[in-house]
Amino acid sequence: MRKAEHLDLAKITADGPGTNGFEDIYLLQDSIPELDLDEIDLRVEFLNKTLDYPLLIDAMTGGTDKSLQINRILAAAASKYGLAMAVGSMTVAIENPALRNSFTIVRETNPDGIILANLGANCSPRNIGEAVNMIAADGLQLHFNVPQELAMREGDRSFRGILDNVKRIADTCKVPVIAKEVGFGFTRETVAKLYAAGINIFDNGGKGGTNFIAIEDQRQGLFANQLDDWGIPTAVSLAEIAAMQLPVKIIASGGIRKADEIAKAIAIGADLAGITGLFLKILQHEGQDGLDTRIESLLYQLKAVFLMSGSRNCAMIREKPVLILGRTAEWLHARNINT
Ligand SMILES: Cc1cc2nc3c(=O)[nH]c(=O)nc-3n(C[C@H](O)[C@H](O)[C@H](O)COP(=O)(O)O)c2cc1C
Repeated sequence: MRKAEHLDLAKITADGPGTNGFEDIYLLQDSIPELDLDEIDLRVEFLNKTLDYPLLIDAMTGGTDKSLQINRILAAAASKYGLAMAVGSMTVAIENPALRNSFTIVRETNPDGIILANLGANCSPRNIGEAVNMIAADGLQLHFNVPQELAMREGDRSFRGILDNVKRIADTCKVPVIAKEVGFGFTRETVAKLYAAGINIFDNGGKGGTNFIAIEDQRQGLFANQLDDWGIPTAVSLAEIAAMQLPVKIIASGGIRKADEIAKAIAIGADLAGITGLFLKILQHEGQDGLDTRIESLLYQLKAVFLMSGSRNCAMIREKPVLILGRTAEWLHARNINT
């Protein structure tokens, strides 16, 4: 019921308030790139497989008939374009095996792709093997969503013991564990704690895109539109984590909607970019063909941005000069991060 309402509300709820911060980040134009478009190679290694593009269709859904259809179409797109994909929280299917097909459809549709399982960071470690096995997952996302829980009338109110729980899961899970925010952004302090607990992959899930406080407020949430601005913009959160220079993988997500934002994220240290709300909206408004058309256009534009910045691949764009200005720079300076 709640998941179905989230799909409907995410379809009509605008991003924000506030931006993801990428408008403050500038890649420089290269007028003589000495590259052909065909040479642009955006393949990346991730979880022992190769993606054609540094892009993740991030966690969204599962557990209803409608979500089965959505997951089938998203998985087909992930397979067709060589993208990674995460399913929505799998607790419902662990509690009710009749709902499993809305998740297993993802692996059936994309047998060789990178697929991520998803559970809350407070989940029982007993459930992780079942979630991972259900979709033969290549990795497990553990989501962190304290503001959303507090905004929900029926949400959790107890958040003690989560770090120990994550550590236990990281120690025992047979696939890599990814810590994931859902749109409020990880700080470097949070990442330091999670890294010490054994997490080596972070999906920073920053502010500026889908806003679960605003969505919950439309479901008679308890924040009553007073706290919609809570959270850390995606670009800031990403820059904070990247500046730590830890041997970790970073997925930049939260409000990523355009090719230049993906390229900027890679340039300042992300390994992949994750997109949820954009794909969900396109799919719900324009259907499967509309989604394919828009993904093709996004991927063409991504290659174009790489070429226009004189970068043949992801390693090369990280060597290019990047300017960080405006509020994002102010924020980072206030946190003693060299821009
Ligand atoms: C309808 C909907 C359902 C979501 N369900 C989950 C979920 O089950 N687990 C999770 O980790 N994140 C979930 N998310 C959060 C997204 O994965 C992502 O972190 C967030 O939407 C910010 O990215 P965006 O601005 O690209 O949408 C959901 C998002 C939407 C729109």
